[in-house]
Amino acid sequence: MGGKLMRAVQYESYGGGATVLKPITATDVAEEVLEIGAEAKKFRPGDKVVAVFSHFVGGGLAEFTVAKESARPPEVSPEEAAGLPIAGLTALQALTGPAGVFLHGGPTADAARPKNILVTAASGGVGHYAVQLAKLGNAHVTATCGARNLDFVKSLGADEVLDYRTPEGTALRSPSGKKYDAVIHCSMSAIPWSTFKPCLSEGGKVIDLTPGPRSMCTFVFQKLTFSRKLLVPLLMTPRADNLEVLVRLVKEGRLRTKIDSLHPLTRVEDGWAKSLGGHATGKLIIQP
Ligand SMILES: NC(=O)c1ccc[n+]([C@@H]2O[C@H](COP(=O)([O-])OP(=O)(O)OC[C@H]3O[C@@H](n4cnc5c(N)ncnc54)[C@H](OP(=O)(O)O)[C@@H]3O)[C@@H](O)[C@H]2O)c1
Repeated sequence: MGGKLMRAVQYESYGGGATVLKPITATDVAEEVLEIGAEAKKFRPGDKVVAVFSHFVGGGLAEFTVAKESARPPEVSPEEAAGLPIAGLTALQALTGPAGVFLHGGPTADAARPKNILVTAASGGVGHYAVQLAKLGNAHVTATCGARNLDFVKSLGADEVLDYRTPEGTALRSPSGKKYDAVIHCSMSAIPWSTFKPCLSEGGKVIDLTPGPRSMCTFVFQKLTFSRKLLVPLLMTPRADNLEVLVRLVKEGRLRTKIDSLHPLTRVEDGWAKSLGGHATGKLIIQP
């Protein structure tokens, strides 16, 4: 893959200064096939594609790269596609896995009871996809974000939006009194279980996208005590079929990538610094 390669910036850790900085492993890329290997059957040079690399290897911050890719229809721009892999797949797998939401068109979409979903940090990369996908799954969506993004998150389809710096936002309380069947917990803030628990329905789950030792202990304790309300750690698994679903939704105009800002490859550190700050709205894209 090569030429005008677009990359989305995605990090493993935020804040805390240089001691927590990890090697840069850009994982999400989108552009077109330049050459194919002898065994390649699915693609030809010139085909538009989107690809995701392993977190451990990275390799996306380059003008040319070797990847296993998924097709990208010409209607889906490389910038939009580059935002999708890690953030979109994480949102999709959290919702359609432990949260039990079925996207419209899925086998039980209409039969299933609409779920009450809370998305924390709904203005971020994962969160903004989670709100849109949850609405496609006919869920009632409550979301948290900063005051500057209230209108943006509403425009994604959220039914209720809370400013996370207000007492209601800190308590995660649904303005209409809903109890959440699932929380897609995208915020990097350490929210204690005692805050989540009273907001959950019987059998409600908090899907923790940034699991640390504390949440793993909570998870094990809850399992051992047969708790009905659960904290569920989730690590996304790259899957081509899931990525194809996301690309198709973008092509159909039912999912969009909010681009926070575009940064040239020669100034990649600017995009990196912005992401490390933890205040992006949507995705940061690096351009050639
Ligand atoms: N488990 C996995 O496989 C997986 C995959 C991808 C990502 N992740 C994790 O998922 C988390 C989210 O990643 P991301 O890329 O979506 O983050 P992000 O884009 O950096 O999120 C930034 C957004 O979060 C908002 N925000 C910050 N603190 C908040 C709070 N306490 N409450 C509500 N909103 C808040 C910010 O709003 P303001 O600017 O207004 O503060 C900003 O718009 C990260 O911890 C990441 O490591 C996990």
